[in-house]
Amino acid sequence: MFAMKVVFIVGLSLAFASAQVGVPGGVTELSGDDLVSATNVLNNSLEKLASGDGPNYKLGKVISARRQVVSGTKYIYEVELVSENSTKTCNVNIWSQPWLPNGNEVTFDCPDGKVVKKHN
Ligand SMILES: *[C@@H]1O[C@H](CO)[C@@H](O)[C@H](O)[C@H]1NC(C)=O
Ligand SMILES: *[C@@H]1O[C@H](CO)[C@@H](O)[C@H](O)[C@H]1NC(C)=O
Repeated sequence: MFAMKVVFIVGLSLAFASAQVGVPGGVTELSGDDLVSATNVLNNSLEKLASGDGPNYKLGKVISARRQVVSGTKYIYEVELVSENSTKTCNVNIWSQPWLPNGNEVTFDCPDGKVVKKHN
């Protein structure tokens, strides 16, 4: 009975500790090199979509970026997107599951609505 309690408590603190460092399921705020690579991931996604069936956005400014380890990797951005006539601030998620065909799911959550797109 005592042993079970100890196992339970150790398990709980492990779960808590892993949430703190960001794996798995935890969210990490990105900076430095991680932020640069997350920015490139987003830029590549925007280019792929713009040269495919849209939407046609250019990357303005990355306000913040976070990364979450899920089944694959999820990037969560707050960014300025530049379209033909305007700049708007949107929340963008890229959920990457590279082992799947079309394994990148991009969600644009903008003031004028929400759009979900997939690309390879
Ligand atoms: C995104 O990619 C384009 C073309 O490669 C490049 O000109 C631009 O500077 C990049 N933007 C950012 C914010 O990295
Ligand atoms: C951008 O502005 C031009 C000229 O005002 C207009 O013809 C065009 O439809 C606009 N594009 C979008 C995507 O709103």
